[in-house]
Amino acid sequence: MTELFEILHSTRAMRRLRPNPVPDALIAKILRAGASAANGGNIQRWRFLVVKDLEIKKAVQVWYKRAYDEVIAPRYSSIAPPPGTTAERYARQHAAVEYLTDHFHEAPVWIVACLAEEKPTRWSGASIYPAVQNMLLAARELGLGATLTTRHLLYEKEAEAALGLPPGVHSYAILPIGYPMGRFGPVGRGPLRDITFLDRWGENWDIPEEG
Ligand SMILES: Cc1cc2nc3c(=O)[nH]c(=O)nc-3n(C[C@H](O)[C@H](O)[C@H](O)COP(=O)(O)O)c2cc1C
Repeated sequence: MTELFEILHSTRAMRRLRPNPVPDALIAKILRAGASAANGGNIQRWRFLVVKDLEIKKAVQVWYKRAYDEVIAPRYSSIAPPPGTTAERYARQHAAVEYLTDHFHEAPVWIVACLAEEKPTRWSGASIYPAVQNMLLAARELGLGATLTTRHLLYEKEAEAALGLPPGVHSYAILPIGYPMGRFGPVGRGPLRDITFLDRWGENWDIPEEG
């Protein structure tokens, strides 16, 4: 069993996945982890669509790819590497993003995280993304690669129609899941002291060393 903190610091977007099937028992374990998450009032409006059908995945991939070509690819070529990363690492991320775009439908299983909520508000996301994060962590613990993706929302109507979602149900993330081609490794993030203040906004906190 891997330690929780090791899992937290190494749950990266794993975009290169093998097409080999994932046993249903593992998918169920991931879903149970998701459905254990915090959610507003414990009302549990979350719904999880497990997609294995290649034709459905292909129909969604078309929109995912179009959004890449129109929005994401131009953005990657115009912005600087984010904090905690290097130009080289950022270029590798871009290549992986492009790879996942082209192979999105080949991930053996997707979990589409949805909410049965007619009029979504900012609170809605707060009641589904904890479940999404739990599922990413559970996948990592099981040695499965996954990525939190939301790009299909740039073509929300089209993608949700391809997914066959009924009226009043909206998708918040698609998690393509499969056995990873590469290895898990540490996430790249900026220093904590740059994003943490004590008592007053802008006043740095002398963060204790890791112990
Ligand atoms: C709201 C949100 C939407 C995201 N959408 C996508 C996506 O559509 N496609 C993708 O490849 N990665 C997506 N990601 C993954 C991020 O790109 C990734 O978490 C970030 O680059 C950090 O990389 P790491 O998790 O490997 O450290 C998304 C992440 C979040 C939180």
